[in-house]
Amino acid sequence: MSLDTPQIDLDEVVDNDQAHVWHHLTQHKPYETAKPPVMISGSGIHVKNADGKEFIDAVSGGVWTVNVGYGRERIANVVRDQLIQMCYFAGSAGNVPAAMCAAKLIEKMPGMSRVYYSNSGSEANEKVYKMVRQLAAIENNGVKHKIIYRDRDYHGTTIGALSSCGQSQRKDQYGPFAPGFVMMPDCLEYRSAYGDVDDYGERAARELEKVILAEGPETVGAVVLEPITAGGGVIPPPAGYWETIQEICKKYNVLLHIDEVVCGLGRTGKWFGYQHYGVKPDFVTMAKGLASGYAAISCTVTTEEVFDRFKANADDPMSYFRDISTFGGCASGPAAALENIRIIEEENLVENAAEMGEYLVGRLNGLKDKHEIIGDVRGVGLFVGVELVEDRVTKVPVDESVPAAIAADCMANGVIIGRTNRSFDTFNNTLCLSPALICTKEHLDTIVDAIDAAIAKVTAA
Ligand SMILES: Cc1ncc(COP(=O)(O)O)c(C=O)c1O
Repeated sequence: MSLDTPQIDLDEVVDNDQAHVWHHLTQHKPYETAKPPVMISGSGIHVKNADGKEFIDAVSGGVWTVNVGYGRERIANVVRDQLIQMCYFAGSAGNVPAAMCAAKLIEKMPGMSRVYYSNSGSEANEKVYKMVRQLAAIENNGVKHKIIYRDRDYHGTTIGALSSCGQSQRKDQYGPFAPGFVMMPDCLEYRSAYGDVDDYGERAARELEKVILAEGPETVGAVVLEPITAGGGVIPPPAGYWETIQEICKKYNVLLHIDEVVCGLGRTGKWFGYQHYGVKPDFVTMAKGLASGYAAISCTVTTEEVFDRFKANADDPMSYFRDISTFGGCASGPAAALENIRIIEEENLVENAAEMGEYLVGRLNGLKDKHEIIGDVRGVGLFVGVELVEDRVTKVPVDESVPAAIAADCMANGVIIGRTNRSFDTFNNTLCLSPALICTKEHLDTIVDAIDAAIAKVTAA
């Protein structure tokens, strides 16, 4: 594959986009006079826009999605063949790729057993919320229905998912939210609420216990956590965190829901983020990297134990999971996901993510030695954040215009990087990197060199 532009009138495309498309997360006023960005083609880790400018994409499609890179003909071919064979049937029946993809996923997730298909990360998370509420309804008159979520985590865009969102600027103006969601504090050691302590991880996890006790353990059904917080500033859990979370969940009979929408499928150098920490979830949700953006698919995966609870009252016509996702029945989704997983296996991309991730963190720590503005470099695998501060002692975050200017300079020089964006009132100060799992040291050098130059320029201004 190449970045050759297809034979189309790109001026017409951009004009139509400007006239009719409402872009995500975008204030459109500037596009009354300027042309909006339109991406035309991708190959490997590179993309090209309508102006013919090429970029190295350090965020896998902007939002850590295209894990196996652009232009994978083998995924396109299996999707094409599947569409001709059998494009769709409602998910009350099975289909060939759905069965095979489920088996392949379960092979990667010891202890898990059942896969429920839908088509976005938000929806996959909503399925869990509904399952938790229904279990409460079936088993104890709905009392144990509350779901605890964490500050700085994000679980999706629908009103239910936003009700479990720890990012104030994502929620502002969209309330009122669903009742029954309660927030616990984040686990960012760099900004430890307890100062410099040896047992930060355990203390941060004990915040869950405090919330459970305050709400009443009999009312709390589940806790939802990202294994490593993504859009909230790339926050790997501190040592001891997950062990304590698991212990608390067991103690109070609270189901553990891990949102792997970003971390899943190799991004962190393991198949799933939670597998770094020896934790045993009751639910795992995944979406973005599941089919690397070649199809819209998400999965809610659970254990046989949870699944069985929905069969326990078979005589009650209301006690099974009465949920449907129309496009969860699209066979193209699991076909793309299965081929995507095969590519990750055959090309050893999980291992590459671990190795290249270490190299990337090493190079960024080199930049930290050089640029005072870098307060913290953190990440796992090819999933890395660079937090920018005004002062390393006070850790006052830089204004969000600073990372915006750095990202804009990188973009002008052909490198697309990410940043926490319209997430918090104060912490829109982290650069985010998540290149495709196929990336090489040369790609990473290009990315880090662009950031180095951009920081030098922006801090000198
Ligand atoms: C951790 C996490 N969960 C869920 C979602 C929601 O996924 P989607 O946008 O596919 O609904 C996102 C999206 O960014 C995410 O980062």
